[in-house]
Amino acid sequence: MSHLIAPSVLSADFLNLGRDIEMLNRSEADWIHVDIMDGMFVPNISFGFPVMAPMNKVATKPMDVHLMIEDPDRYLEEFRDKGADILTVHYEACRHLHRTVSQIKALGMQAGVSLNPHTPIEVLEDIITEVDLVLLMSVNPGFGGQSFIENTIDKVKRLKAMIARRSAKTLIEIDGGVNFETGKKLLDAGADVLVAGSFVFNAEKPEQVIKELKEL
Ligand code: DX5
Ligand code: ZN
Repeated sequence: MSHLIAPSVLSADFLNLGRDIEMLNRSEADWIHVDIMDGMFVPNISFGFPVMAPMNKVATKPMDVHLMIEDPDRYLEEFRDKGADILTVHYEACRHLHRTVSQIKALGMQAGVSLNPHTPIEVLEDIITEVDLVLLMSVNPGFGGQSFIENTIDKVKRLKAMIARRSAKTLIEIDGGVNFETGKKLLDAGADVLVAGSFVFNAEKPEQVIKELKEL
């Protein structure tokens, strides 16, 4: 499988969100990455259901929803109803991660688990075969436009080895500080999906940047 690109609409122009989603529809982007922040799990608040539902009406690509919220179990079904195809929760925000992952899958979505930069990949050893996607944070979650934490490259390699050892089919997605340079290193290390927010939306030609990320 060639790698996937998931632009993050956190860096989109919210006054022209429909236009930006249509640009992603036209582009070579594979998924649309949607960052949900609650001001508790992370020190920022992004947007919620009233924004997601209309976005989903326009989007022709899978919605890859990244929940940076405490106790996400409360809202799994509602995120499915608002259009989430892939739903990712944080390891650090779930008391009973196995139950949460099972519920996401029972609701018909793909289940992702995200790890903060300080969380070792070994915590996923006993659940990796159940998880469709691991989202490694390569910045501390909460804001777009931060710089890439280099240790992520080593984490990707170790996670790739764990997935192979367990004969799992889990995809590795990376989020934060992705550009052509870090993206290439991540793909060489074994990443399957690259999220990119500010690098895409702050560019003069976002569609062209997506195309070039796809060609890395
Ligand atoms: C950060 C979010 C990211 C963010 C990435 O907490 O999870 O998805 O949009 O932004 P960039 O690509 O600008 O680092
Ligand atoms: Zn994200």
